[in-house]
Amino acid sequence: MTTCADDTTTIEELRKWQRALRAQFPIVTGHPDLAYLDSAATSQKPQAVLDAVHTYLTTTNANAGRGTYPWANRTTSLVEETRDRLRRFLEDPDPQWSAVHFTSGTTEGLRTIARDWLPGLLTDGDEIVVPVADHQANIQPWLDTQRQLARQGTHIRVLPMPYQHASGDYDHNALAQLAGPRTRFVAVTHVHHVYGGNMNIHRIRQAVGPDAVICLDAAQSIGHLPVSVTRLDVDFVAFSGHKSLALPGSGAVWARHARGPEFVPGGWSGTPNTVGIVSLAAALEWLQAAGTDRIERWTVALAARLTDVLRRLDAYEVLGCQTSLAADSPVQRRQGIVTFRHREIGAGDLGFILFSHGFMVRSDHHCQGGAGEKSESVRVSLHVYNTVEEIDRLLSVLATLG
Ligand code: ALA
Repeated sequence: MTTCADDTTTIEELRKWQRALRAQFPIVTGHPDLAYLDSAATSQKPQAVLDAVHTYLTTTNANAGRGTYPWANRTTSLVEETRDRLRRFLEDPDPQWSAVHFTSGTTEGLRTIARDWLPGLLTDGDEIVVPVADHQANIQPWLDTQRQLARQGTHIRVLPMPYQHASGDYDHNALAQLAGPRTRFVAVTHVHHVYGGNMNIHRIRQAVGPDAVICLDAAQSIGHLPVSVTRLDVDFVAFSGHKSLALPGSGAVWARHARGPEFVPGGWSGTPNTVGIVSLAAALEWLQAAGTDRIERWTVALAARLTDVLRRLDAYEVLGCQTSLAADSPVQRRQGIVTFRHREIGAGDLGFILFSHGFMVRSDHHCQGGAGEKSESVRVSLHVYNTVEEIDRLLSVLATLG
């Protein structure tokens, strides 16, 4: 297997570290003949998260913010401690000013911002930027806000985010031309769920100016790479717990409160998903101990290995960035997601063939927005439990289908 020397060095350097972490995922070690390559859809859970959930449910399970007996007090503290842990995880520079609102995942988080907060920011003639080739969850809520405001007589303009189509990255220069003084809100995605590209969010602030609110969909980045709200200079972060090693039905919105009205989710939210929140705290702790920088280096190296070889097989078309895959690329970095098509075998059929060899991948349209791909593709998405051997075995099978 011929691959880039940098990736080989990274893999050799981190191999022992990775082996110890992989051993902590019971579902992975319990199925040595299967390779789970669908972590962008949902992640597997380490023993520490399973233990935290079991311990909570068998020792202190109660409602939060209601009772005054010890189990209820402990549950209330766990919820508050999780808020603080998330702020630290995101390198929140002003934790006393920010809000953390627990949600069922990224989709509910973005919908809550769109429904309960965004209308209060906008006045007639304002503009919002919508990433029309990203996940539907980061498109529809903003269009719904536009419709809701129009019914009330407030008309806002939706500016489609410009893309560099060859790489799948945003076109930050074109965005700078597009954004004007009426551009109040910019929705962006940290890691593209189809193209796998890191969307260079640190360049968005410069493009849109100091006053626009930047809202980050971090569904594919939390748990995969360091996410620093200080470095990225964003105002909202929404993500899903189930994609970052925690339980399904958990997730959060972090809000900075520096630009626009205070973020106060509407309605009466009722009993929080305490078990999900406990699992989220355990997942964040586990990720911090493992090191999100090393998780990034590992998955980027594996994705580069897969992309480099796949690009040279004539039967396949790799979507997203073709070159500059290295972690220090000034252009665009591919994270742990590689999506491709076979020129003759349909994506659905290829998915079935791959499963017959033990590989679990996603093969469809991946819920991409209308400005995205017109035909289906196969997506391989990685996490820290994936191995070089899985990638090489996958490449061998793909090569036989060429
Ligand atoms: N949003 C998840 C994905 O991209 C489900 O697969």
